[in-house]
Amino acid sequence: MSNSSALPSWDVLTKHNVFPVANHDEVARLNFLTHLNVHLSSQILPGVKTAYETQVKPEIVAETGEEPSSRHQVRQHMLNNGYFQMWSALRRNTMEMRHQAARAQVLGQIENIVDKVDKACHNDANLQLDDNVVVPPNVAMVDIHCQPGCYYQEYFENDVTVAASYDLGLFVTTAGLLGALSDGGGQGIANWLKTQHPDFKPKRILDIGCTVGHNALPLAEHFPDAQVIAVDVARPSLRYAHARAKSLGLNNIQFVQANAEDLSQYADGSFDLITTSMFLHELSHQAMPKILKNINRLLADGGLNLHLEQPQYAGMDVYQQFIRDWDTYFNNEPYWGPMHELDLKQVFADCGFDPQDMFDVGVVSKVDEKIFGKPKSEGEDYGRSPVWNALGLWKGKNAKISEKVA
Ligand SMILES: C[S@@+](CC[C@H](N)C(=O)[O-])C[C@H]1O[C@@H](n2cnc3c(N)ncnc32)[C@H](O)[C@@H]1O
Repeated sequence: MSNSSALPSWDVLTKHNVFPVANHDEVARLNFLTHLNVHLSSQILPGVKTAYETQVKPEIVAETGEEPSSRHQVRQHMLNNGYFQMWSALRRNTMEMRHQAARAQVLGQIENIVDKVDKACHNDANLQLDDNVVVPPNVAMVDIHCQPGCYYQEYFENDVTVAASYDLGLFVTTAGLLGALSDGGGQGIANWLKTQHPDFKPKRILDIGCTVGHNALPLAEHFPDAQVIAVDVARPSLRYAHARAKSLGLNNIQFVQANAEDLSQYADGSFDLITTSMFLHELSHQAMPKILKNINRLLADGGLNLHLEQPQYAGMDVYQQFIRDWDTYFNNEPYWGPMHELDLKQVFADCGFDPQDMFDVGVVSKVDEKIFGKPKSEGEDYGRSPVWNALGLWKGKNAKISEKVA
């Protein structure tokens, strides 16, 4: 596979206390899957575009007399294309294999992991679980991105298999681009705030849909005097997140089991920074407005709300929309397409936010030197620094400020 030797090996990831260990064969399996993923996206995927341009698009034009007009029309025709079928089946399989490999690795050591998580969670006020929280349909009804048990299933008492598998398997899909602690998004936010808003010193931070805390921890690290509250509905993810944060030496973060559709335990205006990372695209159209209205209520005047996501479809050509929409139909991500076609600013405005306060900005994750080594020249980022799309707003600040990428 071309250029795969330049990829890092899975075992460069930082090993916190509850991180699953791996033997030689397990590392080799994860690296093979990582390389296969990169090979598919760099070497095989361009052929799907060629198949579209040379075969499928001309067919549509011949049939209708017009250029393709929607990603749905493109998908319906591409479904019959052999090259697309091959790439799609392989990509789906790398996802299934990632989960199988991660799960098998975790299950082989689950008693040990559970034991460490139990010890870290015992009588610790930084973990607040609530048996009354009901997992909402957007999480309960689908094994999101083919992940068995989603983020919340427990198959025995205090099981954390789903969380440990997610933590170790993410690398396979991202090939190290999220950093040694899979926290590139949170690092990007912290870096953007540090460089663009050095005087902004939030005292209370809320991260919604935190899963195992990957992107909440950099905020706790960057604002050591702040109290960070990270909420999720998924009990095993929160227990694992808490043990993970503790072993990484972060004590100013509290993990709370709560449904973001009902955050009535927190007072109006009680947070000055509210973040989400890769969260909005896992919400149904029913859930999203309820959560946004809560964010509006909880955000203090002058406070910042920031959502990291992949870019919206608006402005993209139909092929690009179709290929980005693959996850909706083939990767168990039913909310992905419906969310990316929204006019998000309008949705926020409908939930009470002032459009004048909103801005879009690119937030850049730093390349992790622990994984990729030191840059050979100043400013070199190996072309690998992912830029996250962020939709943000400064509440009541009429933020006509031009936000800069950092
Ligand atoms: C893609 S994950 C987010 C990843 C995470 N923010 C990170 O930085 O790694 C989505 C998370 O949102 C949680 N979630 C979905 N709906 C929720 C809700 N209504 N309230 C709280 N958490 C929710 C899921 O349980 C899941 O853990």
